[in-house]
Amino acid sequence: MTKKPKIFISGVAGFLGSHLADKFIAEGYKVAGCDNLIGGYLDNVPSEVEFYQYDLNFHNSVVKITKDCDIIFHCAATAYEGLSVFSPYFITKNIVESTVSLITAAIANKAERFVFCSSMARYGTQEKVPFTEDMTPKPQDPYGIGKYSSELFLRNLCETHGMDYVIAVPHNIIGPRQKYDDPYRNVASIMINLMLQGRQPIIYGDGEQKRCFSFIQDDIDILYRLAFEKSAVGEVINIGPDDEFVTINQLAGCIAEIIGFDLNPEYEKSRPQEVLLANCSAEKARQMFGYSPKIRLKDGLRSMVDHIRTRGTKPFKYHIDLEIVNSKTPDTWKNRKF
Ligand SMILES: NC(=O)c1ccc[n+]([C@@H]2O[C@H](COP(=O)([O-])OP(=O)(O)OC[C@H]3O[C@@H](n4cnc5c(N)ncnc54)[C@H](O)[C@@H]3O)[C@@H](O)[C@H]2O)c1
Repeated sequence: MTKKPKIFISGVAGFLGSHLADKFIAEGYKVAGCDNLIGGYLDNVPSEVEFYQYDLNFHNSVVKITKDCDIIFHCAATAYEGLSVFSPYFITKNIVESTVSLITAAIANKAERFVFCSSMARYGTQEKVPFTEDMTPKPQDPYGIGKYSSELFLRNLCETHGMDYVIAVPHNIIGPRQKYDDPYRNVASIMINLMLQGRQPIIYGDGEQKRCFSFIQDDIDILYRLAFEKSAVGEVINIGPDDEFVTINQLAGCIAEIIGFDLNPEYEKSRPQEVLLANCSAEKARQMFGYSPKIRLKDGLRSMVDHIRTRGTKPFKYHIDLEIVNSKTPDTWKNRKF
């Protein structure tokens, strides 16, 4: 009998990483993982995980903890697209440098496969939506540039040293366990945390920017398959639905309806570099894996509301310093409005 591969998940205390760990554990795999807890919650980590509270930038430690791991899922990142414009050094360190640390450790330890969670921010502004995997990336903020640079490092190092890789491009995932006390990201979680406290949400611009949200479990099923499918090797694959394209105003309306909240949002000036129309095509995932999301937006939001109600609402924590403060920095952050 061949030995089941051991899985390593970076960012395992985070939203995506912890759900992915649950999936592999349920399927009978051994899972190890690390997280520096800058963006996740310790109680997200499933108890069966061999957990290390390490920063990926501590390279020597990362080499040690990935030693007997066969498949590496790189979910750790400071996934802060808007903030990356104002704290580019912090973001780059925890996107590019940390990724190169983990890729290097994986290659040194002869891992079989590296699955990288990139981001839709790699596409930037394109001539048309939905974004397809064959489009030339044109990232337009430090987060997107960091993700795309990491992809280039991954391709280059894997092709040179011979490790299989897959680039997954999840987008706008929602669901329980997402950080909801973070003022810098996760729009749906922020709105729920505010409305459950009886507070009005703050919307950037006119709220007519459009997004497509995907529910965590629908994404996990595809990510799991990326560990094993031969056809995925060397591919970029969008993960997320391409229907239910909604505006941020509609998102707020839907949450208010679930909570029974009298909505009257505050509007703030647009954030610099925010992409107005962002939507990925799911055609490739449909063709390759029969991708077919099952959870509709409203049901996904309802489960988040239940989760945050159970855990309790929280005050927002401004835990990351703004490196650049000027007239373009949103007042919400400068003046700590949440
Ligand atoms: N959630 C989404 O909508 C979404 C969309 C597109 C891409 N992604 C990507 O998917 C991945 C997971 O996202 P998520 O939503 O679970 O984010 P998350 O913040 O919940 O999880 C990421 C985890 O990485 C950890 N981390 C950050 N820097 C680290 C470092 N230097 N060393 C060790 N741990 C570190 C954080 O503490 C956090 O727990 C990220 O790479 C993100 O860019 C997420």
